[in-house]
Amino acid sequence: MKKITIAIDGFSSTGKSTLAKQVAKELGYVYVDTGAMYRAVTYYAMEKGWVSDNFLDKENLIAQLPTIQLQFQFNPALGFAEMYLNGENVEQAIRTIDVSRNVSQIAEISEVRAKLVEQQQAMGKNKAIVMDGRDIGTVVFPDAELKLFMNASAETRAQRRYDELLENGQSVTYEEVLQNVQQRDYIDTHREDSPLVKATDAVEVDNSTMTKKEQFDLVMKLIWAELTS
Ligand code: DC
Repeated sequence: MKKITIAIDGFSSTGKSTLAKQVAKELGYVYVDTGAMYRAVTYYAMEKGWVSDNFLDKENLIAQLPTIQLQFQFNPALGFAEMYLNGENVEQAIRTIDVSRNVSQIAEISEVRAKLVEQQQAMGKNKAIVMDGRDIGTVVFPDAELKLFMNASAETRAQRRYDELLENGQSVTYEEVLQNVQQRDYIDTHREDSPLVKATDAVEVDNSTMTKKEQFDLVMKLIWAELTS
């Protein structure tokens, strides 16, 4: 059977990673969460004191970029690959609301994007990959055989992210999460380098009122159509 590249883009908290993990498992493909890579660089910059709400030391971060090692390591118990930053497992540390608050500033830096895009393209050179992010169908793999663009209302997405954060024991309010979702939507769609936009050949999936099962079935139909074409 032929191998394809599946690019999943869309707004934050649209369930891209849940869907991408399910699809990768079903097909035996590699799954890459590119948001985790931007989050890991953000976490690194936060640890160094180079980024906070109203502050960004871009020069220092750019100068140190070559020393930042990002690696995915598959965890069989979890069934997906965890993010490692310079040898340290940061999978939990990169999922906090503080990292979410700062990540858009870091993802705007062209030098950061160039480094991460290069790594992402290398990971996908043999196809058989499901990658999710904001620019996968437009910049990383413009020739991907299947491109999905995920969407849902900001309120639905904030509620999902809020439930997730509470489950992970973090103390946040729904309003705080909604504000973060709306702020990231704005920055992601308005940044100069690789803004979030739907590729002209992407299929839009609005999952505001879909169950995970309905969404998975719909997407698997699209995949089989592509695999058997
Ligand atoms: O998917 P996520 O919410 O974990 O992504 C975190 C941030 O990283 C998001 O606000 C935008 C940025 N991002 C990006 O600019 N390009 C990507 N390919 C993936 C994520």
